[in-house]
Amino acid sequence: MDRVTNPYVPGAGRKPSALVGRDSTLKSWDVALRRAERGTTDQPFVLYGLRGVGKTVLLTQLRHDADKRDWMIVQIEGGTGRSLRELVGEGLYEPLSELNKPSRGRRFLKALATATSFKASYDSAGTWTFGLDLSGEASGGADSGVLETDLKKVIRDVSLAAGDAGVGLALLIDEAQDLSPSELTTLAVVSQAAAQDNWPVLFALAGLPSLPQTLAEAKSYTERFHFEHVERLTPDEARQAITLPAEAEGVEWSDDALGYVVKASGRYPYFIQQFGQETWNAADGSPIALPAAELGVAIGQQQLDNGFFRARWDRTTTTEKRYLRAMCPHGDSGVGSGAVAAKMGKSINATGPIRAKLIHKGLIYAPDHGVVTFTVPGMADFIERQLD
Ligand SMILES: Nc1ncnc2c1ncn2[C@@H]1O[C@H](COP(=O)(O)OP(=O)(O)OP(=O)(O)O)[C@@H](O)[C@H]1O
Ligand SMILES: [Mg+2]
Repeated sequence: MDRVTNPYVPGAGRKPSALVGRDSTLKSWDVALRRAERGTTDQPFVLYGLRGVGKTVLLTQLRHDADKRDWMIVQIEGGTGRSLRELVGEGLYEPLSELNKPSRGRRFLKALATATSFKASYDSAGTWTFGLDLSGEASGGADSGVLETDLKKVIRDVSLAAGDAGVGLALLIDEAQDLSPSELTTLAVVSQAAAQDNWPVLFALAGLPSLPQTLAEAKSYTERFHFEHVERLTPDEARQAITLPAEAEGVEWSDDALGYVVKASGRYPYFIQQFGQETWNAADGSPIALPAAELGVAIGQQQLDNGFFRARWDRTTTTEKRYLRAMCPHGDSGVGSGAVAAKMGKSINATGPIRAKLIHKGLIYAPDHGVVTFTVPGMADFIERQLD
């Protein structure tokens, strides 16, 4: 069928034509936004799950929902090599500029001065003026060099200024597992202070399944955070993720074609989009029939092997590949690190550094003490298909 109208969108962070199965998170977020506008600040949202399950897309939807309510938004991403201080600082510039209207009051000018001092704390060469003379403002003071002190101050002043405008500040952080432990600790402390004093700010963090544990190690009160496990779709949701985008184009799926793609995808959103796309391209017309689905899944699998999986496999060294192979065939559900070491003919101590490297690269995580699992669904099958 016509590739131009193909409604499926495999790819990191690409907004699906139908975002299914995430209503309860979106509802909770909507409640949190409204509560914050009325003066009650809820705990941070933590969206965690496997690669390709839809965390970024969901985080982006939270952003849009906050945006629709005219909130100030800062969206950043861990793992880019920049510090949390710099990421937040640079992320603040645009929303502050947008709120910068002549009618703004003292609180807003104070927020600008604070943000400007925060900028100075990591960038001595650059400065912000926002086209205003801020010299009369109290110094700003978010430049002590202590991240916790400075971040607290800037988040407080900016969110209170947003509150004056009847909205709030939303701070969204993707790939949060890649922030340093001390940065995560600082975020936990700042968000705790925000909830205690009801600053109108909401935090949403997205990351790999290791994120809740990393946060718990950072600070004990993170237990009260609003954890959302972003999971693969239920059978009904998976069918909707396939049929709704087609319906919008006036195209139907036959039951057996639909069942075939749902089963092959394991109900993982990324795979649904990939197989949906290839099946559409292979189909002769509506309703989409089983042979098109079979061909689509075969081509889609090849695309995943060459892209989604390959990109991760190619980032590993020979020794790391050996470790990953030793995790098969049980790596998708979890396997003891002792068993992996034994399979490699090494001691658990000798394999510790390899395991740590793979966790750092985001390929595996430890769901429990002494257990390792792939962060990418279907990785075990992929590895068993590889010769190198
Ligand atoms: N709820 C959903 N319904 C349908 N498709 C979805 C849904 N969520 C995500 N997708 C699709 O799945 C793919 C992956 O989404 P996304 O990039 O958000 O995953 P992720 O969890 O952030 O992955 P990673 O850990 O690799 O960053 C995209 O093609 C997106 O369109
Ligand atoms: Mg993502």
